[in-house]
Amino acid sequence: MRITFTLNGEARTLETDGDQPLLWVLRDELDLKGTKFGCGRAACGACTVHVDGDAVRSCSFPARYLEGRVVTTLEGLGTPEAPHPVQQAWIEEIVPQCGYCQPGFIMATAALLAKNASPTDDDIDRNIVNVCRCGTYVRMRRAIHRAAELTRAAAPAPDPATSAPDEAAEAAHPDAPEADR
Ligand code: FES
Ligand code: FES
Repeated sequence: MRITFTLNGEARTLETDGDQPLLWVLRDELDLKGTKFGCGRAACGACTVHVDGDAVRSCSFPARYLEGRVVTTLEGLGTPEAPHPVQQAWIEEIVPQCGYCQPGFIMATAALLAKNASPTDDDIDRNIVNVCRCGTYVRMRRAIHRAAELTRAAAPAPDPATSAPDEAAEAAHPDAPEADR
């Protein structure tokens, strides 16, 4: 079947088997090898990519559901010159051991931080459930918190014009009950 979607910021159209998992579309048809094969059954997370901003296990995502979607892989997350905050934190904390599972963890973390830039340990436990056979979990957790700091530091400062209490509006309603002010 013919599928058109956005991959790492570029429109792509390809002919593929609709049952083909996204993982193999990426690795075999598009030669993007950053996404890894681990278990092939949505358990380990090595194959994690973003689909419309959500962390998705590409080994279990049939190509037929790609139409019109926005996909980001590790290759589209950052560059050596301008790494994504998660990649920067991973470098600073020297997280990888063999490295095989790391793309999946990085993509899962980036998806989490896009929605929650101040994750607690509990948030991390609930959202980052990938598997690392080398056991880099302690460094990984440090890196996730560091990536969260970098994400918050990179966020634009709040606009005082829109974030300060609207004194003009309050003055316009001087009879409003105290609790409403
Ligand atoms: S290879 Fe997809 S979850 Fe393990
Ligand atoms: S670093 Fe080796 S499996 Fe995670």
